[in-house]
Amino acid sequence: MKIAIIGAGYVGTTTAAAFAHHGHEVFVADNNQEKIKAFQRLKVPFYEDGLEEALKEFIQKNLLSFTTDIKQIIQGCEVIFLAVGTPSLTTGEADLSYIKEAAKEIGRYMNDYKVIVIKSTVPVGTVNYVQEVIQDELKARKSNIPFDTVSNPEFLREGKAMEDAIDPERIVIGSDSERAETIMRTIYKEFRCPNIMCTSPKNAEMIKYASNSFLAAKISFMNELARLCDVLGVDVAEVSKGMGLDSRIGHQFLQAGIGYGGSCFPKDTKALAQIALQRNLSLGIVEAVCAVNETQAQWFLEKAENALGSFSGKQITVLGLTFKPDTDDIREASSLKIIDYLVKKKALISVFDPKGMEHVKKLFPGISYKTDPLQALTNADAAIIATEWKQFTELDWKSAKKVMAQPYIFDGRNSLDPEVMKNLGYVYMGVGRPPL
Ligand code: NAD
Ligand code: UDX
Repeated sequence: MKIAIIGAGYVGTTTAAAFAHHGHEVFVADNNQEKIKAFQRLKVPFYEDGLEEALKEFIQKNLLSFTTDIKQIIQGCEVIFLAVGTPSLTTGEADLSYIKEAAKEIGRYMNDYKVIVIKSTVPVGTVNYVQEVIQDELKARKSNIPFDTVSNPEFLREGKAMEDAIDPERIVIGSDSERAETIMRTIYKEFRCPNIMCTSPKNAEMIKYASNSFLAAKISFMNELARLCDVLGVDVAEVSKGMGLDSRIGHQFLQAGIGYGGSCFPKDTKALAQIALQRNLSLGIVEAVCAVNETQAQWFLEKAENALGSFSGKQITVLGLTFKPDTDDIREASSLKIIDYLVKKKALISVFDPKGMEHVKKLFPGISYKTDPLQALTNADAAIIATEWKQFTELDWKSAKKVMAQPYIFDGRNSLDPEVMKNLGYVYMGVGRPPL
C-alpha cells in the first residue's frame, strides 16, 4: 500500500522503516527542511541503532522517500499517519497545535477518500477533534469527500525502536469504521504481531496514556520505596529481584534510580493527570507518580553531597547524559537536573556520554566535555552515574580509581555491584542500598 506519514521524528521515521520493511511504499513529510534534507542525504539527524542502515536500504529500493511537500503525499496516499509531536504545555496538558496544523493541511488538500491515523500520543477525544478540524476545512472548500479517523498509538521504546516497530508485541487500532479497520488490518497483515486489538478510538487513546502511566508508576513506586529502604538499611535492588519473581509483578520497570526521563513518561503522566483535573477528578496515584519523579534526583544528590561533605569547589564527573542508554535523546534526562544542581553548588563539572554530549553542550556550554570515561574521571573527587551505559558498567574501575582524586561513586542507576566496588577501595553509594 502507499502510506503517507506526517512528522519525520523518532516515531514517524521508525514507523516508516517498519512499513517499508513489510513491503509498503512509504512517503514521509516534515515541515522542518533541515531534517528532510538530512534524510534525503541518507543521514538520520538523531541516533537510533539500525535506523540509518534501514532507511538507506529502503530509500535505495524506492520503498521510502522524504519530502517537505505535504500536499503531494496527502493526495498520493489513501492512508495518512500523523506522527507529529504532542509536547507538554506549561499546564501539563498535551499541546495539540501540531496535530491541528497537520489535520488542517489534510482537510485543505485531500482529493478522495482517506484514512487519517493518529500515531502521536494524544488525549482521549483527539480522534474526534481531528475529524472536526478536517470537516471544517472541507466545509470551507464546499466539499464532502469521505474520510475516517483512526487511533493507532505507538508503543516503541527508544534504543529498541526498530525491533519494536517491526515486530510489535501489540497493535491497538481504535476505529469506528469497518472500512478503515479493514484497511488498517491490511497494513499490518505482514507484521508478526501476536496481539492485534481493535477497539474504539477513545479506548485506544486511553490505552496509550494508561500504559505509559502504569510503567511510570512501577518506577516511582520503587523509587519511593528506595527512600525507605535507605533509612531501614535494606537493599532495594534485592527487594526488586524478590518481587519480580512473582509472575504477576514481573521484573521489568522495577529498577529504582534517579527518576524516569525521556520524551514520553514525564509528559504523558502529567497529561493524564491534567485530563482528569479538567473533569474535576484528581488522579492521586498519577499525581504521586509525577511528584516522586520530580524530587528523586534531588533526594539522591542531597545524600551524595552529605557523603562528600560538599560539592563546592570539588571536581565532580557525571557519567551519562541521555535519559537512558542507546539513544542520544536528552529530553527530560535526570542528568540535566544533576548538572543544574552541581552548577548551583559551584562544583567543577566534567561529563562524558557516548551519544548525548552535543545536545547538552547547547544547554550547559560552561562545563567540561571529555572524550572518554577515564579522561572524565581524571582528578575527580566523585563520579555520579546518571545513565547505565555499557561503557560505565564494563569500565575498568581498577584503573579508574588510580586517576581519581577521591574514590567516591554515586551510582544513580544501581548499575554497579557494591561489593565489587568496595573491594576495589571505592566509597560506593547507590539508590536505596545500604553502605557495605
Ligand atoms: P519528534 O519531535 O521527534 O518528531 C515530530 C516531528 O513532527 C518533527 O520532526 C516536526 O518537525 C514534525 N512536525 C510537527 N508539525 C508538523 C506539521 N504540521 N507538518 C509536518 N511535520 C510536522 O517526536 P516523536 O518523538 O517522534 O513523537 C511523536 C509522537 O509520538 C508524540 O506524540 C510522542 O508522544 C509519541 N511517541 C513517541 C515515542 C518516542 O519514543 N519518541 C514513543 C511512542 C509515542
Ligand atoms: C517509553 C515506553 O517504554 C514505550 O512503550 C513508549 O512508547 C515510550 O515511552 P522510552 O521512553 O523509550 O519508552 O524508554 P523506557 O525504556 O520506557 O524508559 C523510560 C525511563 O524510565 C528511562 O529514563 C529509564 O531510565 C527509566 N526506567 C526504566 C527506570 O528508572 N527504571 C526502570 O525499571 C525502567
